[in-house]
Amino acid sequence: MSPLSTDRINDAPFIYDMTSDTATIPTDEMFDIMKAATRGDDVYQTDNDVKELENYVAQLLGHEAALFCTSGTLSNQLGLRCLLFQPPHSVLCDSRSHVFNYECGGIAYHSQANVVPVFAKGNYMTAQEVEGRINKDTLCGAITKVISLENTLNGTIMPIDEIKKIHDVARANNIKMHMDGARLWNASEETKTPLHEYGQYFDTISICLSKGVGAPVGSMLVGSKELITRARHIRKLMGGGWRQVGMLAVAARHCINNVVPTLRDTHVLAKKLAHHLESLGVQILLPVDTNMIFIDTSRTGLVISDLSEALKRKNIKIFSSPGTTARIVLHYQITPEAIEDFMQVASDLVHAKQKSGFVPPPLENTAVDTLQQTAESAYPSTTV
Ligand SMILES: Cc1ncc(COP(=O)(O)O)c(C=O)c1O
Repeated sequence: MSPLSTDRINDAPFIYDMTSDTATIPTDEMFDIMKAATRGDDVYQTDNDVKELENYVAQLLGHEAALFCTSGTLSNQLGLRCLLFQPPHSVLCDSRSHVFNYECGGIAYHSQANVVPVFAKGNYMTAQEVEGRINKDTLCGAITKVISLENTLNGTIMPIDEIKKIHDVARANNIKMHMDGARLWNASEETKTPLHEYGQYFDTISICLSKGVGAPVGSMLVGSKELITRARHIRKLMGGGWRQVGMLAVAARHCINNVVPTLRDTHVLAKKLAHHLESLGVQILLPVDTNMIFIDTSRTGLVISDLSEALKRKNIKIFSSPGTTARIVLHYQITPEAIEDFMQVASDLVHAKQKSGFVPPPLENTAVDTLQQTAESAYPSTTV
């Protein structure tokens, strides 16, 4: 699929939007495909294209059933809700995770559960760190009932061996496992690990279609048939039942078929850009395993607003800020030429700073947790 099959939107120049991988623009090809979609009613499960997509994604993840949802927030919250029955109970997750920070306190609201964040030392929680935070106190505690993992997390990949270890800890303690796999496609493509290998360790998985996959709308919850029947019921309760959405299902299926196989190319571009920025003295705050780059420009004398202004002239968009940290996210509509432009802009700005006499402060031996804290400051105020 050509990344620029729609290269002008409403007569405006195409913007290489690197603020998020949710920023992909639906293409003309997708609109054409939508015309041929079935037009049944998904609330009554009479839309064949939706059913086909649900069966396909369930099978990819090695689960019995799936539910097409409007958003990753909905599929995460439904998954967790269906694994949690009676308070007092709690969910254990990474302190940086989306379900904890960016879903409006939904776990407390929908599931009346306490959330216990794990402040991991590294880029992912280890089984040991998780085990140390499990609450088994049946007198005063909110007992841990679910462990929720996120993969990728800030673009970094959680190794499948660690997932298995956490799964074993969970099973030994009668705890359910949920995965926020908004970007599990990226982890799977990068590591060449089939989705079902991840799937075997979880009771529920939320996997997004409107992030790197490039679909205009949608996310899937997968699990057992029984659980998905309950999730469908609660989706209706929350107002998330939708009607003639076959057109969104076929657009999503088209993206799975055509964009997912290109994810690795996007990762290669992200790594190329990161290496180049690093060679200019920009600090890369987290490993660039997939499509996200967290940067700190303080050692180059640049501030992000200068970089963002200069990039704008090349039709490249990043979040602007007066500080020196930023998150850059690539997706399939970011072309190699746009990355060349980005590198040139960054080189020009940094060299101009050097010419004006800017001398970088001495390099400190920065600890991993300091880098992580700095990476957190690179988040846009609303994270997508
Ligand atoms: C890791 C992660 N999980 C879940 C979501 C929620 O997805 P949505 O914006 O579709 O609700 C996001 C959104 O960007 C995300 O980054």
